[in-house]
Amino acid sequence: MGLYEKLRAEHGPVAPILLDGDLPAWLVIGYREILEVAGTPSRFSRDSRIWRWFKEGKVPPESPLLPMIAWQPVCLFLDGDERQRLRVAVTDGLERFSRRGIRRHVTRFTHQLIDGFAYRGEADLADEFAEHLPMLVMTQLLGMPDEYGPRLVQASRDMVAGTETSVDSNEFIVKTLQQLVGRKRASPGEDITSWLIEHPSQLTDEEVWNHLRVILIAANETTVNLLKSTLRMLLTDPRCHASLAGGQMTLPDVLEQVLWDEPPLMTIPGRWASVDTEVGGQKVEAGDMLLLGLGAGNHDPAVRPDPAVSMHGNRSHLAFSSGPQECPGQDIGRAIADTSIPEEELRWKSGWMTRHLTSLPVQFSARRSGASAESAGPGGVDAETERAATGSGSRSMDKLLGPSPSTPVPGARLSWWRSLKAWLRRR
Ligand code: HEM
Repeated sequence: MGLYEKLRAEHGPVAPILLDGDLPAWLVIGYREILEVAGTPSRFSRDSRIWRWFKEGKVPPESPLLPMIAWQPVCLFLDGDERQRLRVAVTDGLERFSRRGIRRHVTRFTHQLIDGFAYRGEADLADEFAEHLPMLVMTQLLGMPDEYGPRLVQASRDMVAGTETSVDSNEFIVKTLQQLVGRKRASPGEDITSWLIEHPSQLTDEEVWNHLRVILIAANETTVNLLKSTLRMLLTDPRCHASLAGGQMTLPDVLEQVLWDEPPLMTIPGRWASVDTEVGGQKVEAGDMLLLGLGAGNHDPAVRPDPAVSMHGNRSHLAFSSGPQECPGQDIGRAIADTSIPEEELRWKSGWMTRHLTSLPVQFSARRSGASAESAGPGGVDAETERAATGSGSRSMDKLLGPSPSTPVPGARLSWWRSLKAWLRRR
């Protein structure tokens, strides 16, 4: 954020930057300018093939930018009628899932993951929980068997990270999706794969699996990051504890605050100028690339003079972008991320597009053997465990809930935890 503010002071709302390989581009950091670029496809196209540096052969085949910006036959990289035909198939498919149906899967997999570590008394919630939940839920929405989840989690994160095995990971994902499309053509079900196949937009098999791939990647990376940040904020930010306990803030409010403060995609590449134009006082030439700095835009002093002030009740953040490309999976992402557990030490990893926790370790009192997942709270925490957690056995719970029961437990904090559990049980 410090760098964004420096760029803002030096260049205003649109800053010149160099991408990997010293390729010049523009970073849009002004809130209004992001809305302008995202909302004007006639000047700012999604078609990466018009990028000057592609045309001039300046982007080497091994460039780490390629997995995210090399053109593909999907709505993400198209404009106009062709884009509309594909986008409507995706949005219609995603809208057919009810929040209730999604939460059923979220609850089942949450319990399954927690059962995997509840007996140990400690866990890394980033690695053992948040990294897995979104993909497990997505396998159900796509109509895949449960056992595909773990390998897809690995493969999709590996692909986005741009490692030396990214290409193999991508091939694994593509092959899995191609087989899935073949199976669903023969035997359709109540899932997005079947709905894309039967949509009036008449997608070819290649278009179907390409869009399934976009959905998987768009959903997983973002929702994992949102889940981690929400867990951390819920359990460490004193504003959250006080507001939740006092009934001023609901968990969905906390989620929106995270979407303001730490959008899962801090920067999105991109848009490409289709004409010579001007934005934010900068002259942009046809063929220039623009990256949307969603994180920077959310902190633009023009719309948010004091970042410490809560954005309670205000959903006009840029986390899901804006305009015709606005994220069509936001309700599903919110539904998956509305889940939580405590934290202690935090380690972050920053890339050019995202910033996320690599670790979210917690300690808690191990669950009694025989306690059912259903009777337990979100962290497998039942009433007895909750009482135990206020004792000396659990450092992070101590921090969360206050001192041991021998001293009066601050009512506000305990009721915050109870309200969190009650809220999760209703789902
Ligand atoms: C909750 C976390 C999520 C965040 C923060 C998020 C954010 C975004 C952003 C910023 C874009 C780019 C829009 C642009 O280029 O202007 C996008 C696109 C997209 N997202 Fe999400 N997303 C999330 C979850 C999901 C989920 C769960 C799904 C699917 C179930 C999904 C499906 C998509 C698709 C298909 C696109 C491409 C849309 C298009 O090109 O028309 N997203 N998302």
